[in-house]
Amino acid sequence: MLQDKITQYTAEINAFHTANADELEQFRIKFLGTKGIIKDIFDEFKAVSPEEKRSLGKVLNEFKQLAEAKYQDLKEAETEVSAGKDAGMDLTLPGEAFEVGARHPLALVRREIVDIFSKLGFVVAEGPEIEDDWHNFSALNFPEEHPARDMQDTFFIKKGGEKGDIALRTHTSSVQVRMMEAGQPPFRAIMPGRVYRNEAISARAHCFFHQVEGLYVDENVSFADLKQTLFYFVQELYGEGTKVRFRPSYFPFTEPSAEMDISCTICKGAGCPLCKYSGWVEILGCGMVDPNVLENCGIDSKKYSGFAFGMGIERITNLKFEIKDLRLFSENDSRFLKQYKSSLI
Ligand code: PHE
Repeated sequence: MLQDKITQYTAEINAFHTANADELEQFRIKFLGTKGIIKDIFDEFKAVSPEEKRSLGKVLNEFKQLAEAKYQDLKEAETEVSAGKDAGMDLTLPGEAFEVGARHPLALVRREIVDIFSKLGFVVAEGPEIEDDWHNFSALNFPEEHPARDMQDTFFIKKGGEKGDIALRTHTSSVQVRMMEAGQPPFRAIMPGRVYRNEAISARAHCFFHQVEGLYVDENVSFADLKQTLFYFVQELYGEGTKVRFRPSYFPFTEPSAEMDISCTICKGAGCPLCKYSGWVEILGCGMVDPNVLENCGIDSKKYSGFAFGMGIERITNLKFEIKDLRLFSENDSRFLKQYKSSLI
């Protein structure tokens, strides 16, 4: 009986809220007043059996403390509100809500890529965005004055220097060089990061974008390992059944080199504007690390072999979310960014 009453009043007290002085006074009289509920309950308590007293005593005290604490809290708040009123402010008016932010779609996709490769034992490596010629080009087997350097329109910062010109890195392959120079195989890492190229800004190109490159060097690493790794990656990212195909290509730092296409994520290969009705879209470049690159980084190319790959996060994201204009990624238009709120984890 008494326990039921206490349970019921506890709920009432917990639900009670006011910033109004009269309502608060009524609350005080009802519960804490000389003829109030707490007084009544304590009177009733005197009449219960000794066993019940033992179990109920603590409950009763907690109930009393709850009512007193509630009153104190509301009283403090009420005092602040009336002080505000005296000063010409109404503190009971609703404030401006802070909006919950959303993760940037590129960050979401980068995380997903990192998660997939980490399941295969790849760790994340990072390096500087301002690079010297050695790490961005020469160590990667780009000969001096070779037209291959023009494949990547470089933003130069400073001419000359011990390790050549200083520039904004054009790819995160520079991080692969730094990693190999700093140790000995096995290496199994991915390198996410921002890269820069001097291109006119349009829906399809930007002067900076984001890459994830990967490197795997050990004894007996073969092209089959490369294919299986990337096949697994694509199944995880775009779903089981996504097809892949490799086309021969050229990069100075890999031999043989390839570009990898996947079956179009929009039309599933049937043909649509995104895949230019071919059913395939290119997503990355890859190949076996050129022995010259291994030697440049102090690694015995007779003993070790490896593969590398590199992809643009923007492209991967466009295919996932069907975003058609690259500029949206850097304009910070909240109407665009908000759409990804549901993906906030
Ligand atoms: N670094 C290349 C690029 O930026 C991508 C790539 C990386 C290709 C590794 C092959 C192997 O275009």
